[in-house]
Amino acid sequence: MTNPLGVSPMTPWWRDAVVYQIYPRSFADSNGDGVGDLAGVTAKLDYLADLGVDALWLSPIFTSPMRDFGYDVADYCGIDPVFGTDADFDDLITGVHRRGMRLLLDWVPNHSSSDHPWFVESRSSRDNPKRDWYVWRDRRSDGSPPTNWMSLFKGVPAWTHDDATDQSYLHVFLAEQPDLNWANPDVEAALNDSLRYWLDRGVDGFRADVVNLIGKGTDVDDLPDHLVTMPLLATDRPFGHELLRRIRTLLDSYEHQPMMVGEVYLLQAGQSASYLGDIDGGAPELHLSFDFRPLHTPWEADRMQGALVEMEADFAEPGWPTFVLSNHDRVRHRTRYGTEARARAAAVLALTIRGTPFLYAGEELGLEDGVVPPERVVDPDGRDGCRAPIPWTADGDDETGHGWPERPWLPFPSNATTHAAEVQVGDPASMHSLYRALLALRHQHAVLRHGSIEFAPLDDGDGADDDDADGDVIRFERRLADERVVVIVNLSDAAAPWPTDLADAAVLLSTARDRRASGAALAPDEAVILNL
Ligand code: NOJ
Repeated sequence: MTNPLGVSPMTPWWRDAVVYQIYPRSFADSNGDGVGDLAGVTAKLDYLADLGVDALWLSPIFTSPMRDFGYDVADYCGIDPVFGTDADFDDLITGVHRRGMRLLLDWVPNHSSSDHPWFVESRSSRDNPKRDWYVWRDRRSDGSPPTNWMSLFKGVPAWTHDDATDQSYLHVFLAEQPDLNWANPDVEAALNDSLRYWLDRGVDGFRADVVNLIGKGTDVDDLPDHLVTMPLLATDRPFGHELLRRIRTLLDSYEHQPMMVGEVYLLQAGQSASYLGDIDGGAPELHLSFDFRPLHTPWEADRMQGALVEMEADFAEPGWPTFVLSNHDRVRHRTRYGTEARARAAAVLALTIRGTPFLYAGEELGLEDGVVPPERVVDPDGRDGCRAPIPWTADGDDETGHGWPERPWLPFPSNATTHAAEVQVGDPASMHSLYRALLALRHQHAVLRHGSIEFAPLDDGDGADDDDADGDVIRFERRLADERVVVIVNLSDAAAPWPTDLADAAVLLSTARDRRASGAALAPDEAVILNL
């Protein structure tokens, strides 16, 4: 697991970066319509620069009827009015770059909105020139859908029949999100042109939505029974890799090193990493490929270490892993793990592991999911809780205030009052201060960014080869030249002995609020970073 290459003078920026995901609707509202917007993000850039993140990823901001809150795009080169204007975008990107940060946009290539003019044309007649831009099929002779694929939302078939032309179109997500047909070279050209459009406007890269799905082309035969409800997992095809190699060539033709991180929703060992292309000696594809194993792993040392070790093996050099604990699709890890102590220890893992960490806005505040009453549920897949608006100020209740000029589109997180940004910034004991300290450490210590990583076998952390190991302490070492940093995370509700071999190590950081030095037992769910 050692990286024999050390630090290359050519290290691409995204290996050094910590990326911060913003869900724009929920971040900050500048005009009082209850929905966050681009000017709202611009107004918070000093907050983000002070936190110490290097790049911002905005969830979709393009023109959309918002059936899936922007993951249903009606114009790949337009900004939805709810988020602002072209001028607001220019102000934002200028402000981001002026502060030394980078900006990534969310690109949704697998499907458009059914309101996109391409689809409106496509469905207008069987001989429309854009008919083949989407995946149209005849029903089976018994009237059932063309294949057995089920949509990932709402438990309905992934095909909707269009009476006007008597054919069905494919939609892996909502019926309002028809899948584009990437086997048609005109589709590839149009989508890749949209990348050029934003690159020419200065963006530093993209997060590509469910990008493994574009490789299915028209290859949509029946799935085996156990995969019927998971077409996303069944579309790992060579064609997708071919498309990504061409996208990579496009990106690499820009001097400012734009980066693409793919949402590759494939959970088998090695599948996500294979989308880097060059990891198997092939031509490069994605720069980074999400691997969501840790996101799906409970706060248990053996399972977490198992996920981390597998990922490390999958993404060994020349690969490079990512690390994600929360995003706009899953219950926040503060809520999943249940306690603030665990969320603090998880932050240490996220920011000291080898790879590029992706933080989800609000995790630096230790926000919990919002509690969304049934009448306020708006997401077709019930993901509203993790999209609760960011509370900037303490004043307010579940529905209003907290620095939002008007009642926002969703209720606030359940701990909004105690965990608002203004309460935490500057309080040395806060979650915000922990993230800020961790981000500063990462910047100061190249070993945390580029060092090799080696996991110790799971034991109780006392460093002794004895029988008392309870297996709840993860310990790994990062090394770069003669710098050595050890990270220890106690994933247990009980205290654990201090490792005997680390009695004199200097404590760089601890999540326990009262730790001053090495030696005393590790508190329950304490994480420490030590300098050897
Ligand atoms: C994955 C995105 O993260 C999710 O929010 C969205 O609903 C689907 N892709 C469909 O675009």
